[in-house]
Amino acid sequence: MTITDWRGDRIRVSSLLQADETLGEVCVRGWLRSVRRSKEVVFLALSDGSCHATLQVVVAQGSPGFDAAGELGTGACVGIRGEMVASPGGGQRWEIQAREVTVYGLTDEAYPLQKKRHGFEFLRSIAHLRPRTNAFGAIFRVRSSMAHAVHAFFQERGFVYVHTPIITTNDCEGAGEMFRVSTINPENPPLVDGKVAWHEDFFGSKAGLTVSGQLQGELFATALSDIYTFGPTFRAENSNTSRHASEFWMIEPEMAFADLDLNCQLAEQFFRYLVTYALEHCAEDLAFFDQFVAPGLLEKLEAVSNADFQRMSYSEAITCLMKAEHDFTFPVEWGCDLQSEHERYLTEQVVAGPLFVTDYPAAIKAFYMRNNDDERTVAAMDLLVPKVGEIIGGSQREERLPVLEKKMRDFGVEPKSLDWYLDTRRWGSCPHAGFGLGFERFLMYVTGMENIRDVIPFPRTPGNARF
Ligand code: 4AD
Ligand code: MG
Repeated sequence: MTITDWRGDRIRVSSLLQADETLGEVCVRGWLRSVRRSKEVVFLALSDGSCHATLQVVVAQGSPGFDAAGELGTGACVGIRGEMVASPGGGQRWEIQAREVTVYGLTDEAYPLQKKRHGFEFLRSIAHLRPRTNAFGAIFRVRSSMAHAVHAFFQERGFVYVHTPIITTNDCEGAGEMFRVSTINPENPPLVDGKVAWHEDFFGSKAGLTVSGQLQGELFATALSDIYTFGPTFRAENSNTSRHASEFWMIEPEMAFADLDLNCQLAEQFFRYLVTYALEHCAEDLAFFDQFVAPGLLEKLEAVSNADFQRMSYSEAITCLMKAEHDFTFPVEWGCDLQSEHERYLTEQVVAGPLFVTDYPAAIKAFYMRNNDDERTVAAMDLLVPKVGEIIGGSQREERLPVLEKKMRDFGVEPKSLDWYLDTRRWGSCPHAGFGLGFERFLMYVTGMENIRDVIPFPRTPGNARF
């Protein structure tokens, strides 16, 4: 047995339940999921969040803790000292026969998480308490493991972790969806010719929260070769969907000396690594999702961890959609942006698995993507997966200075405003490529949860930044 507990004064439920033999007298601490009592005995189901399973605690009449146990209800916080014994009842291998019950915090009937199933929507309204439920315990344990796996994947491959800035003066994606960061008094801003004088603001120009660390990531890739970022990003887009959050975490690798094909290979390996890691390290929690949230989840994840991902060019995708016997809300023609309904049709109906769509029209993608020789498409790729749709977006970058400058002007981005970015093309430019994986979208995929608000501890969406 490996004991991961680092403190000597108590044992975690996960460690205890994994034990091959009894550890004798132990101390456990946690919150009660349920309390059942009869005249002679009180049964407590105790969780400390270290694993999905609860630990059964038996407090018998006559033991010193019996009176204290009488006051306890669902949600109470307790410490238990007692003997770890093989459980005679079904369902669990070990239980504790309590000798001592320490009450840390009581609850009452008003406690919102009584023992019954609650809807995810209700639980969102009590996001401060929802980590105490089975589902959210599982989600946030998986989230933590996946964050570890992200670092493990890149560190094992020699990628350097770069902390790109949160506050920035450039809008990477150019979609104008930045939250402003300012110390100007909105009631009485400094004005020049009736307009706000942003040069008098804290940073000497208009600043905001980053929408992507990519541009800074590119600067580092043209020095350290292979890098990745993993941090929060912010988008002020007013889209109230189950897949958009105003604050979300993104992983952005960037590789020097890489083209679109290598970029897809990295994305595929990364995605499969994360799925395989989850299957190996989060088995108990995934089994819970498979049973209660998304039947068939495990089978889907097993299949993905073994399969090669399919690829299709944007032009092929359009042909395929135009032929489809399916009523789309948004019409399809070459040049249109793929809507979520199109993406889901391709990944769910056409290939029934992950799908890279590549080589999109230049006009619907960002200015930094590399022009293909046909002059109308760019070396872009999106990875689409069933249920979630777009989960990764990336491209080879335009490394040719004159081409990039022209593209910027065409997109209405003033080259002077990004002179530092253009310097990488001016001096020692190299072919390079990268992508961004939305961490919450990935968590939706791996847990089967259907709303992005339920895979991030405290979701920020239009109209909501409570907690
Ligand atoms: O496709 P996006 O906008 O690409 C970029 O930001 C590039 N700079 C990435 C790169 O090449 N380095 O976003 C990348 C991914 C999307 O595929 C999606 O998974 C996620 O980020 N994403 C969101 N996730 C949650 N809420 C939102 N509002 C999101 N917008 C994008
Ligand atoms: Mg995208």
